[in-house]
Amino acid sequence: MKNLLLSILVMIMLLFGFTACNKGNSSEPNTGDVGGKHPPASVASVGTFDLENGQNGKAPTVTLNSGYKMPILGLGTYSLTGETCKSAVLSALEQGYRLIDTAYMYGNEAEIGEAIRQSGVPREEIFVITKIYPGAQFTNPEQAIQQSLDKLDIDYIDMMLLHHPGTNDVKAYKAIEKFVEQGKIRSIGLSNWYIEEIDSFIAQVNIMPALIQNEIHPYYQEKTVVPYMHKLGIVMQAWYPFGGRGHTSAIFNNHTITQIANAHGVSSAQVVLRWHLQRGVVAIPGSSNPAHIGENISVFDFELTQAEMTAIATLDRNEKHDWY
Ligand SMILES: NC(=O)c1ccc[n+]([C@@H]2O[C@H](COP(=O)([O-])OP(=O)(O)OC[C@H]3O[C@@H](n4cnc5c(N)ncnc54)[C@H](OP(=O)(O)O)[C@@H]3O)[C@@H](O)[C@H]2O)c1
Repeated sequence: MKNLLLSILVMIMLLFGFTACNKGNSSEPNTGDVGGKHPPASVASVGTFDLENGQNGKAPTVTLNSGYKMPILGLGTYSLTGETCKSAVLSALEQGYRLIDTAYMYGNEAEIGEAIRQSGVPREEIFVITKIYPGAQFTNPEQAIQQSLDKLDIDYIDMMLLHHPGTNDVKAYKAIEKFVEQGKIRSIGLSNWYIEEIDSFIAQVNIMPALIQNEIHPYYQEKTVVPYMHKLGIVMQAWYPFGGRGHTSAIFNNHTITQIANAHGVSSAQVVLRWHLQRGVVAIPGSSNPAHIGENISVFDFELTQAEMTAIATLDRNEKHDWY
């Protein structure tokens, strides 16, 4: 009953333009701007991607409820630091990536900013996600947000996420909202947020989250979370899309996955990424290997059949590989 009431409240908020006041994608201005406010993203569109128009090396975009467009494949940079991180980002941008995911906790925001500035790719073409962390950062969020802006040094941040729920998360989110008003951050999202906490959270903030980044892979599919967030107009993004370091070979060598890969003449990694995208989930695979980076953005010249999608759906075993 409580959940039903909360859901109704959220739908009413969506109907009355409870959303960000952004100005459309930097490279493709949103023409639907009404007095600085945007209607929520179409509920159907956040989980349905334009895969037919994707090309290897050029991922299609999804329109967020903030009005901005975000590529549906990007590079994850967790555990990449120093020169390794910088060259991975440079390789990704060179091979067509336009989405980079980082976080304060990865300790690599400065290197990512440096790579972006050196890449020669116009800033407006690149979508950068970063995150602030519970604890000291949520206690003093303005300082934490400014620190990310300074470290990245790329004029503005496309998307800032709260890394996971914690004390002062509403306060931290509201601080990000102020940076959105000032044009220093464009969209806001959450990470490691589930059905239990989303409705009460969004009832307390002014800008609807545009994205939720959660652990999602064939062994942990979030079959109820994904459609629930989609109904709220929130894009879902998979972290650990291959299961995460230490778990990738189990997924890559899974018999169902290798059989499908062989049938299409592609790698297991490509099958897994294509599965994420066909079920409406954006992915940010991590890699420092230029060949893998290239492979991971080359998933637009084959399509999984409905039977193959169903076969991968049966692999779910509610097996989480991290604690968030
Ligand atoms: N919000 C959160 O709480 C949270 C938590 C964790 C991670 N994340 C984000 O999600 C991103 C993805 O997670 P992740 O990088 O930890 O795990 P992942 O993407 O599931 O797996 C990365 C591993 O896969 C390997 N790999 C990548 N492409 C491959 C390919 N084509 N063939 C074979 N192996 C391949 C990589 O090795 P090579 O380097 O050799 O390619 C690396 O060991 C992170 O980088 C981070 O940005 C967010």
